[in-house]
Parts: sequence; structure tokens; C-alpha cells
Amino acid sequence: MTTQAGASRLAVMNFLNEVAGDFPNAISLASGRPAEAFFDLDHWLEAIPLYQRELATRWGVTRADAGRRLAQYGRTNGLINELVAAQLKLDEGVQTRGEHIVIGAGCQEALALCLLSLCRAPNEVVLARDPTYIGMTGVADLHGIEIVPLYAKDDGLADELRSVTERLGNEGKRARAFYLIPEFDNPTGAVLSQLVRQELLDVCAEQRILVLEDNPYGMFRYEGERVPPMYALDRSGSVIYLFTYSKTLCPAVRIGGAVVPDTLFGDAAAARALVAELGERKSFLTVNTSQLNQALIGGVLLAENGTLQRLVTPQRDHYRKNRDLMLAALAAEFGGSGEGIRWNRPEGGFFLTMDLPFRFGQEEVLQCARERHVIPMPLSFFSLSGICQESIRLAFSNVPSAQIAEGVARLGQFILQYEEVCHAAI
Ligand SMILES: Cc1ncc(COP(=O)(O)O)c(C=O)c1O
Repeated sequence: MTTQAGASRLAVMNFLNEVAGDFPNAISLASGRPAEAFFDLDHWLEAIPLYQRELATRWGVTRADAGRRLAQYGRTNGLINELVAAQLKLDEGVQTRGEHIVIGAGCQEALALCLLSLCRAPNEVVLARDPTYIGMTGVADLHGIEIVPLYAKDDGLADELRSVTERLGNEGKRARAFYLIPEFDNPTGAVLSQLVRQELLDVCAEQRILVLEDNPYGMFRYEGERVPPMYALDRSGSVIYLFTYSKTLCPAVRIGGAVVPDTLFGDAAAARALVAELGERKSFLTVNTSQLNQALIGGVLLAENGTLQRLVTPQRDHYRKNRDLMLAALAAEFGGSGEGIRWNRPEGGFFLTMDLPFRFGQEEVLQCARERHVIPMPLSFFSLSGICQESIRLAFSNVPSAQIAEGVARLGQFILQYEEVCHAAI
């Protein structure tokens, strides 16, 4: 059953879509979609026959027969698992084998399958930092899975994890999973250091909590040293790695998935059982992931020799440029501003966050869109408990570069006007 807090979290996404629909000419700094300039459909569609030929050779059948089999229902856990395993190893340092991968309709399906498989009883809960990605909270809310928020700065997170787990134990509850986006978090843009990742892994291994490591933005690092994924640091079988091609290729292909480690806390049979359970659930949810869409990804991976680096490089340059334009615009607009206005400098990913000197919620989004024709995203929309009321998320991934300065200037006008009204009221 969905709780009241869960229902209001689910409602905010509809609200935001409605605002975007009602003000189509507003500059949206709310949408964290990938930039469409890099969607190369003609090219990608040509990759399908490439994969079809590869299948014909692998199966020892004609190309036409391979095509017919592709158009049929398929293996529940996926067709392109080995190619995906090779790409994850090359591009993300994630070592796995095809049979430990479950391909889903985007990362979203994999996330849903994992949560439903791990949190089966009412006392089995998922942990998450507050605020966190709405795709995770939404799926938990829809299925009545309790989400327990963690509030701590990075250096206190492992202690907080330990004490929350203990408290839950006293309440007769059990933390089964800990959802995290360690690299360029959505919504905050933050990165967890290797030390903190390691500390969290230690507690998770000790408490037998599975980390759900979601990494859609890992290939979009603009500066700074790369931190290995928690999956690569893990020694005890406590990380399920979630991946997606939504950002590196395109969301419409709806291909992502979960990598189950070789063992779950040292138990290889338990890991195989989890893979089987994910597949069983999937077989009654989406039956199997579209083989045509998998063939597109498979063909692109074949054409690119197993790595997406070449395709991602120009995207990364573009997003870095947009981030820099946004940072420059923020400095120009708010550089001399007084207390209460701050923003972070993300080393990668699609978003940054900004603190304001006043509450910014639904009403303010509407006002901002109506009066200033710019749409930012309230950070409180991602909150599990209504924190972050005075912060917003600004996405720089899908806004045309030429509109970034104008969007930030419009936001500046709104903030100035809002502050003046507040002062006049005092
Ligand atoms: C944290 C996070 N996970 C996953 C996804 C992508 O999910 P999918 O593969 O279902 O498109 C996104 C996209 O916005 C995201 O921000």
C-alpha cells in the first residue's frame, strides 16, 4: 500500500510534466534528459543487421533465420549479456559474466526487480540517502516497500548506516538493500570518495545489506580522478551494479540491467538463486526485453569494438561545456550575492544543486515558469522527508547551450524579485 508521503512523492513528477506542458516556451533547467543532438538513429539502426549477422554465425543459421529468431520472444534474462559484460569491463571496470547479468527495460525495470526480490516481507526495508533519485523512491512507494532515509555527511555516513541498521533491528525490521548513486548523484551531482565507498562496503558486508549501485552517469566525468565503482571495490559479494544505455546511447532504446555479483556474501548458490529470481519475476513483468532493441545495442557494441568511449567523448565535451556555461552564468548572476546563495561544482554528470535564501516548492516553480519563463527543479521533490526546501536542482544536459545564460539570468530575476517581496513584507 502506498503511504501518504509516498503518494505525494509520486504526484510531483506529474506536476512537473504539467508545468513543462503548460509553459512550452519556458527554458527548462528541470529536465535531466540527455542531449538529443547525439541521437544518431540512422546509424544505430544500421547496427541491427550487424548483430543479426553475428547471431547467424553464432547459431549456425542463415541471416534471415537469425532475423526471424530475433523477432520472436526471447531469453528472459537477455540476449546481449556477453557483449554488455565486455563493455562494462572496458568502460566501467566492472568484471562480470553474461550469466550474472539481467537485461531489463532500462535500469528502471532492473531496479524494480531487485527491490521486489530483496524486500519481500513488510519488515524488509530499503535504505537511501535523503534526497535521492525519484525512480527508486517511486518504485518502492508503488509497491509499499518502506524506504528508510539516511541523513549524514559523507564522512559520517558509515556510522549512520550502522546506527540505523541497529535501530531497525530493535524495531524488528531488516535493511535488505541500500540504494546509492556514488558517481555524480541524481539529484545532488556529488561523488562519494573511495574511502567512504570502502567504509560503506565494510558495514554492508558486516550487516549483510546489498548495495544497489546505480551508475548512469559514470562515463560523464569532466575532471578529477576517477573513483572505482563500489562493485569493483567489493570483496564480499555485497554490491548489485545497475547500468543503463539511456544516457550513453538513448533512453528510447530502454536497455539497462543489473549485474549480480558472483557470490552474495560468499554464497555462490545464493547469487545464482537471486539471478534466477530476478528472471522469474521479469518473465511475468515484461516477459523479455525487446530483442530488436537489444540487437541495436549489440550491433553498436560490435561496431565500436566493445566500448562506448568513442561515442561518449563528444557528448562528454558537450556536457562539460554546458556545465561550464552554467557555472559561469551562476558566478556572473550571483557571484556577489550575500548569504544563502550557493551552488556546487559537479565533476561530472548532468546536474548541479543550488541553495537559496527562501523556500522553493511547487508554488515557486509555477510562479517562476509563469512570470520568468524558466523552470528549475525543487530539490524537495527528491526528498524522503521534506528536507531541502530551500534548494533546487539545475540540469545542464538538455538545455541548448545558447539558452543557459538566459535561463540563469531569468532565475536571477525571479530570486531578486522574490527577495524584494520578502523584505518588503518584513
Ligand atoms: C539515478 C538514475 N538511475 C537510472 C536512470 C535511467 O533509468 P533508465 O535506464 O530506466 O532510463 C536515471 C535517469 O534519469 C537516473 O538518473
